[in-house]
Amino acid sequence: PASPLAITPVAGRIGGEVHGIALSADLAPETYDALHAALARHKVLFFRDQHQLDDAGQEAFAARFGDPVSHPTVPVRQGTQHILDLDSTDGRAANSWHTDVTFVPAYPAASILRGVTIPEAGGDTQWANTAAAYDALPEPLRVLADTLWAVHSNAYDYAALRPESSAERIRYQREVFARVVHETEHPVVRVHPVTGERTLLLGHFVQRFVGLGQADSLALFQILQNHILQPENIVRWRWREGDVVIWDNRATQHRATADFGLQRRTVRRVTIAGDVPVSIDG
Ligand code: SIN
Repeated sequence: PASPLAITPVAGRIGGEVHGIALSADLAPETYDALHAALARHKVLFFRDQHQLDDAGQEAFAARFGDPVSHPTVPVRQGTQHILDLDSTDGRAANSWHTDVTFVPAYPAASILRGVTIPEAGGDTQWANTAAAYDALPEPLRVLADTLWAVHSNAYDYAALRPESSAERIRYQREVFARVVHETEHPVVRVHPVTGERTLLLGHFVQRFVGLGQADSLALFQILQNHILQPENIVRWRWREGDVVIWDNRATQHRATADFGLQRRTVRRVTIAGDVPVSIDG
C-alpha cells in the first residue's frame, strides 16, 4: 500500500526524504507504523528542520519508535538516558564503514541521528544498502558468502584511521571505545527479520572469518566490502542543523566524512534494540 508519508527518494537504491512531519513522542500510532514501513523500504530516512527536538525530545521520540539501548562501552551524554554524543572536539568522527555495534550478539535494529552542530561544508555521511549489495553479488561470491561467519569485535584500532591523532587522543579513544572487549560471531548473510531480504553483515568491527586466517580474511573482507561499497548502493547526505536521520542498522553500513578540518561537528545518536541475526539456514 502507498505510504501515508510524503517521501521522495534521495538515491536510486537507498534513502528517502520524508516531508511534512515534525518528529515527536506525540505522533499517532499509525504514523510510527508508517515510519517503520518506510524504513524497511528505503533503509535510511532523512528529515529536515526538526528543530523542535532537543536531547529529551530525541529520546522521547526514540522511545515511541522502539526500545532505546545505550552504547555498551561509551558513556552516555551527561543528563541523558541513551544519547551517544559524537562530537568532533572529542575526536569522535565515525569515518570508516561500519554497522553500529555489531560486536554484540543482538546489535541495534536502527539508529536515530540528529545534526546539532554542522560545519559549513563537509562532514557528510554516506550509507550503503547491504541488501542491494547481496543481490548484486556475482553468483560464486554469493554462494561463498552464504556459508561464511565472521568474528566481530570492538578491539578495533580506532586510532589507526587517524594518523593525525595525538598520543593523548589515542589513549582516550582506546579508553572509551574498548574499555570492555566484546566479541561475537555473526553470519555474513543475515535474513532481515522484517523484509525477509538477505543482507551482507560486515563493517569495521569484523576481525576475521571463522575458519580462515588473517591474510585470507583480510583479502576476502576487501572483496566483499568492495561489492557493498559500489556507488550504486550508496546515498550521501549533506547535513544541516536540525536534520534527523534514521537508518535500518540491519540493512546498511555507514561512514562519516572527516573533511571539515578544525570546524566543529556534533551529531547525537540514539540506537534502538535489535535481535540476534538469523542466517539463511534459520
Ligand atoms: C555513526 O557512525 O553513528 C555516526 C555517523 C556520523 O557521524 O555521521
